[in-house]
Formats: sequence, structure tokens, C-alpha cells
Amino acid sequence: MKEQVKIFDTTLRDGEQSPGAAMNVAEKVRIAQQLDKLNVDIIEAGFPISSEGDFEAVKEIVKTVRRSQVAALARTNREDIERAWGAVKFAKSPVIHTFIATSDIHLKYKLRKTRQEVLNEAVKGVRHARTLCGNVEFSAEDSTRSDVEFLCQVLSKAIEAGATTINIPDTVGYAIPSEFGELIRTIRKRVQGIEKVTLSVHCHNDLGLAVANSLAAIQNGARQVECTINGIGERAGNTSLEEVVMAIRTRNDLLRFHTRVIPKHLFATSRLISKITGMVVQPNKAIVGANAFAHESGIHQDGILKEKLTYEIMTPESVGIPKTSIVLGKLSGRHAFKERVRELGYRLPEKDLELAFNRFKQLADKKREIYDEDIESIVVEEILRMPHRFKLVYLNVIAGNVTVPTATVQMEVDGKLIQEAGFGDGPVDATFKTIKKITRTKSKLLQFAINAITRGTEAQGEVTVRLEEKGYTVIGQGADTDVIVASAKAYINALNKMEFKKQKLVGM
Ligand code: KIV
Ligand code: ZN
Repeated sequence: MKEQVKIFDTTLRDGEQSPGAAMNVAEKVRIAQQLDKLNVDIIEAGFPISSEGDFEAVKEIVKTVRRSQVAALARTNREDIERAWGAVKFAKSPVIHTFIATSDIHLKYKLRKTRQEVLNEAVKGVRHARTLCGNVEFSAEDSTRSDVEFLCQVLSKAIEAGATTINIPDTVGYAIPSEFGELIRTIRKRVQGIEKVTLSVHCHNDLGLAVANSLAAIQNGARQVECTINGIGERAGNTSLEEVVMAIRTRNDLLRFHTRVIPKHLFATSRLISKITGMVVQPNKAIVGANAFAHESGIHQDGILKEKLTYEIMTPESVGIPKTSIVLGKLSGRHAFKERVRELGYRLPEKDLELAFNRFKQLADKKREIYDEDIESIVVEEILRMPHRFKLVYLNVIAGNVTVPTATVQMEVDGKLIQEAGFGDGPVDATFKTIKKITRTKSKLLQFAINAITRGTEAQGEVTVRLEEKGYTVIGQGADTDVIVASAKAYINALNKMEFKKQKLVGM
């Protein structure tokens, strides 16, 4: 019997710490439902003390998750732990995840505490968490730069205090696989009571080694991997969930483990996270990138036609990449549309379904074939998006090679209609300048990118916009068959996210 490796998904917590990836409650709930469907063992839903919004989001997620355990993050102090418990206590299977740093660098410069003080706080925090919750995970932040002797002492005491999972974070993505594997082996040898708890790892990708380090860890005795969809997360991100799961599955001759994740939901989950966060998946990303199963060279294509095994180590179908996802068209009715929305995993009230159906009809008038990606885009943009301060009402652009590009824009700002016109270097520039004038915002445009959501010239263009203000970045997305309208939607979405972010920061 192969041993199980638990998959602890932290897309909603560490993933949300990716620059620009702020999500609202409805978006987080939708992601949690998808992670539950993917069958991850644990969903880390948030860091409730960090803001009122995070606390509310975790409480909402708890209500909707049916199978997975739900974890909330807390530092080791009483207030953090009680706030985490307040948010997660009604979950079917709640987890409090508490952490404190153990490296001398963090002790000296960040915590300004002695080793003894950190040891005491870790024990106190875990003990308190255990009075509230049966499942308590303890993380020794910056484990890989900690003194091994001290690290093992803290972990032994945390287990004695009642921790049920011990997590070893490579917080700054510093470790290399052989070294990290060796650390896990040492911990298994030296930490008292380690055999009674789940040994977990949490790797960051600063050197591009997060997946390799996680695999080295499980080969040396770890039985839980913390990871995120598309590998998103703080700085260079975290271990990519889809890569770990598929590595275990594909190289089961060497990695004699199993996970409970259902791989055929990986692609849809990846697409959903990308759509909601606005973080585009690079085409050459393993498992879920657009080119992950594309064979370009003649020799490879010839090989694949003769026998897939020549160049394919796993099939696109196994991770849920559909051959075609054309599902609906102009003549599809209300019933078929709503059914497809449900099949895609959305649980929406009737009034939202009706709203989405009306938008679908408008789109189907412009575009003959409607794909799953189009439906997803409608639901994310029309239903899940955060409450808007700024809303596009009307856009008219005149452009060409013999005229000065001009945009006339009408918007709702806090419910009030405002109209303006403006010029620019091109139609997008004219549109953005006019929106900026209307909204009186100061954000700087860092990035602008257009992609086609599906194939064909009538496909919807999906625009991604990254804005920066006072050191904070946000990512906005918008889709439309007209790329200038898509650009305006993306820009306005980013401005709304910036407003949301400002409110969240004030609340801290
Ligand atoms: O990277 C890290 O150390 C973390 C901990 C809170 C687990 O995210
Ligand atoms: Zn982390």
C-alpha cells in the first residue's frame, strides 16, 4: 500500500500574497469550492487577523467547503489564535496554523527576541491553540536558515505542547534539494515525538527549486506538501500544486506515494485562479501552460503521430485539458446555459444566473461559438467581481492612421454618472487617459498585455493590466470581443482593486 502525501493548498493565503493578486470574498469562495472539488486535503483559507475582509472570507469559505479541512493562519500570540479560531471554528474539520520564526536572522532583526523567548512563545501558542482546536499545525518560519539544534528543540516542544502537524518552511527559497532532504532526515531523527505527527514542508521558489525541494522532502519522510495552484505566492511563488501532484503520479516508479487530488480538475482550477487573480500563466509552464502539450518540431510531430509515447509522458486529458470546449452557441437556451455554469462548478443564485445568461446572449450575438473559457469569463467579470466604485457605462473611440485617437467615456463613480473625452497616442492610451481623468486616480501603468481567450479572430480579447500606487501593485483583467472595450474593463477592474486594497490596508 502506497503512503499518502497530503496536499495542503495555500493559494488563498500565501498565493494571495503575490504582488497584485488581491481577491474579494466571492472570488475566494469560488476558488475554495474548486479546491474542494479538486480534493485537496487542506485549504488554507486566510490569515484572519490581517484584515476584517480576510476574517469574513475565511468564515464564508468554511460554510461552503464540503470535503477538505480548512486552516486559518495565526502568529503565536493569543489574539491572532483566537481570531483564527473565530473564523474557522465552524468548519467540518478546522485547523489552526500557527507560526513563529526560528532563524537567528529573524530573531535578531524582526522579532527582537532571544531563543528562549521564541521557544516559550511557540509552546504557549500551540498549547492555547490546542485548547480550541483538535488540529494544530506549527510552522518554524525560516527553518532552512535556522540553527538545526535550536530548530529541533522548538519542534520537539511544539509537539509536546500538542501540535498535530509540524511544518518546515523554506521561507526565502534558499535551500537546494539534497540539503533540504538532509534537513528532513535530521528532523526525523532528532525531534522527539515526530513519528506521532504529520511532517509537512512549505517551499518558496526564489531559486526555482520549490518543487524539487518538496519532492526531496517527501523522499526523506515528509508526508505533507504545502503548495499553490500555478505556483503563485510571495515573490517568486510557492511550490506548484499541479507539478508536485503530476510528478508523483507520472514518476510513481520512483515516488511510491499517492495524493487524493483528482488530476482531471487541474487545468480548470489553474484557469480559474489565473482568471480571478489576473496572473497570466506563462505558456511554457509545466502541466497547465498553453504549450505544455504542444509539439512544434516536425520530428516530434511525426513521432507523436506514430506513437504518443515517443514524446508524451502524460496526456493532456489526464490533467483535464479538453480537446475542444465549444459548448454553446447563439441558439442555446437558458436551461443549457445554466446547466453548463453549474457543471463548471459555480453555485449561483437564480438572479445571478439570469444576469449571466443575459450577458451570454449579448456575447453569442457577436460570436458564433461560446467556449467554457467565455462562460467562465462572464461569471467572473459579471458576478464575482468586487463591489465597484468605478463602472464603465459607455465607450466610443475614434482611431486610425489619419486621425488623432479620441475616446469618449461615460462612467459611474460611486453611483454618479460622469462623462469625459480625451486624446492619446493610440486608442488604448486615449481610453486610459480619459478614465484616469474621470476617476481622478494616480496609479501608474506598469504592464499591459492582450491575449485571445479562445481561438479564431472572433475570439474575446483578454486584457491584463498591472497598476502601481504607493508601492502596491494590482492586476486587472477584462474580456470582450472588442479589445479596446476589454482594455477599458481591465483598467477599471484594476482601479477597483486598488481601491479595495487601500481599504484593506487602512483596516490593518
Ligand atoms: O513562507 C513561510 O514561512 C510561510 C509560513 C507562514 C508558513 O508562509
Ligand atoms: Zn510562505
